[in-house]
Amino acid sequence: MSEHQISLTVDGDRETVTVEGRTLLVHALRDQLGVTAPKVGCESSKCGACTVELDGDIVKSCTILAVQADGATIRTAASHDDVLSVVQEQFHEEHGLQCGYCTPGMVLTVADLLRENPDPTDDDIRRSLKGNICRCTGYTNIIRAVQSAATELEAVSGSPPSAAVTEGED
Ligand code: FES
Ligand code: FES
Repeated sequence: MSEHQISLTVDGDRETVTVEGRTLLVHALRDQLGVTAPKVGCESSKCGACTVELDGDIVKSCTILAVQADGATIRTAASHDDVLSVVQEQFHEEHGLQCGYCTPGMVLTVADLLRENPDPTDDDIRRSLKGNICRCTGYTNIIRAVQSAATELEAVSGSPPSAAVTEGED
């Protein structure tokens, strides 16, 4: 089995790790580097539990070989960032998490959405999260958390306020 030494910058820390050619990025992060924020769910790009930010793009780390990420800068839900922190706080405040397994992928995806679109509609939020599955089905509270985060961020940045959350949808 071919082995490769790769370098990654993960949440600000420069790391070097030896991986097999077939090693998925999510396994290199979790099993070899001990970075446990990205979770392993489906391993087939459906659930979004393994979501990370790779060189500025939101990706599912089970869809990428670790060798393909050589030299990349990766951020996870454990990184420190003002937008991400507000999103995490509002997931907590609005009860947007239950078991929390999906949450790291959710909050990274949502933080990316709010950087691109500080005033998302409910449909914008649903579209952005369509690749992230919550097995606890807390979607109403998740959407409420995103709108609350948008409002919180607007108070800081002066962006327009968010639209209201539609009650009773799941
Ligand atoms: S584990 Fe990667 S999308 Fe489900
Ligand atoms: S909170 Fe349990 S999977 Fe989403």
